[in-house]
Amino acid sequence: MAYEAFARKYRPKNFEQVIGQESVVKTLKNAIELDRISHAYIFAGSRGLGKTTVSRILTKALNCEKGITPQPCGNCENCTDIEKGSFPDMYEIDAASNRGIDDIRSLRDNVNYAPIKGRYKVYIIDEAHMLTREAFNALLKTLEEPPPHNIFILATTELHKIPDTIRSRCQTFIFRPPTTSQIKEYLKRILEEENIEYEEKALDLLADASEGGIRDSASLLDQAVTFGRGKVDTKSVEQLLGLIPETFIKDFITHLKEKNIKDMILITEKLESEGYDLNVFWKQINDIIHKELVNLSINEKASFFDQKDLEDLIYVQTIFNKAFNEGRNFSNPKHIYQLAILKLKYIKNLVSLREIYEKGIKISKDPQKTQPEGKEEKKRLDIQTAILKIGKEAGGVVSAILKKASIKDEDQYVTIIVDKNLKDTLEDKIKIIEKYFGKPVKIEGKEIKQEKKSKKRDEAVDKVLELFKGKIITYKEE
Ligand SMILES: Nc1ncnc2c1ncn2[C@@H]1O[C@H](COP(=O)(O)OP(=O)(O)O)[C@@H](O)[C@H]1O
Ligand SMILES: [Mg+2]
Ligand SMILES: [Zn+2]
Repeated sequence: MAYEAFARKYRPKNFEQVIGQESVVKTLKNAIELDRISHAYIFAGSRGLGKTTVSRILTKALNCEKGITPQPCGNCENCTDIEKGSFPDMYEIDAASNRGIDDIRSLRDNVNYAPIKGRYKVYIIDEAHMLTREAFNALLKTLEEPPPHNIFILATTELHKIPDTIRSRCQTFIFRPPTTSQIKEYLKRILEEENIEYEEKALDLLADASEGGIRDSASLLDQAVTFGRGKVDTKSVEQLLGLIPETFIKDFITHLKEKNIKDMILITEKLESEGYDLNVFWKQINDIIHKELVNLSINEKASFFDQKDLEDLIYVQTIFNKAFNEGRNFSNPKHIYQLAILKLKYIKNLVSLREIYEKGIKISKDPQKTQPEGKEEKKRLDIQTAILKIGKEAGGVVSAILKKASIKDEDQYVTIIVDKNLKDTLEDKIKIIEKYFGKPVKIEGKEIKQEKKSKKRDEAVDKVLELFKGKIITYKEE
């Protein structure tokens, strides 16, 4: 027996089998029951959501030999002919192929004849927005004086391209993408009918990847069954979709939580050497971080991170997103992503804003510190407070750089001396910095020498330095 694609084989035969589209189905069923069928409908929505399918079910409901019913029998000659597409009173017109002029002309003649076999003649005009202006005008005349026993269904993926004159004479239904869990249920039903083994996780991935299209999900499932040699397992679905194996993702997130820079870098190396697309990987990581942030903020609970990570995670997301925007357009994204990982080193040294804030308050409330120590101490205090405010507006990376920079208040202006590599980062935010220092700011980039004195540092830094041919800019004891 020839292999039949799942989408075809499992095309809904009645309203009950339609997935999602609850309000469309409910309204149509009520109209049929109450004998209030409109003579013209617009079915609007993206491809593969069931516009053609529902049109055919409606045709059956109106022409089933058992009578007009929201539950057509599916077995009578009319129902089976409609199912096969050979029912003489159902006209399927593809406006995309010849833009419909001839079809609409013959339609105008045709509408005056009585149905051949059924009660209603149904005209399904697919991609109706592609009709020419003449075709629309011809159609409009028909819609203005609708002869009885004719139903028009205009299916379109681009509702806004249907002229208002037409729209005002039709009842419009919007077909919406089903939820991922509805898609998953649909896939599960097919697999169970087919007696095909599957893993739940694999179905999650397929449902996610089909982005709301039922037909796409069924086609993906066809491929997954072939690819997995008769079963649908996570590993082959990951491969099919070009996804990164979950272990890489989980390990990376774990290392991220522990700020284990070396192992994060090693994962990017491994992915590259095994031929995975680092952009896909980075996107998956960013999606997880985003989900975690949303969950932490809304539900106060997430899968990997805790409340105490929230502040850091916001910086991570800023850095990682920026890297993604650069990396995806860059021939060697690995360098960009590794640099982003390296930047997390700064976060490790960041004092939390709350901590700074609390310190700031304490210092200003302590009379012994603010008063007798005079001008020098007062100035330092202002700079600290300014950095705190700058950090809030310009981001933690900027305040981290400022905290380590040498800042001189020269009365008329302020000089900030930083490593030359960090100069641009500060220049980008100079407006904000000047606002809080309250005077013009000069940023000087300096070659800052690595300290000779040998210091303990972790091997992650060594690895990173070697990877980037870098050098240490600042060093802070933990
Ligand atoms: N809402 C739905 N419920 C169940 N299956 C659907 C649904 N929408 C689409 N499908 C599946 O996708 C295939 C194509 O659907 P179709 O009705 O032609 O979509 P459209 O006309 O909106 O592009 C159908 O054969 C069916 O298997
Ligand atoms: Mg269609
Ligand atoms: Zn029937």
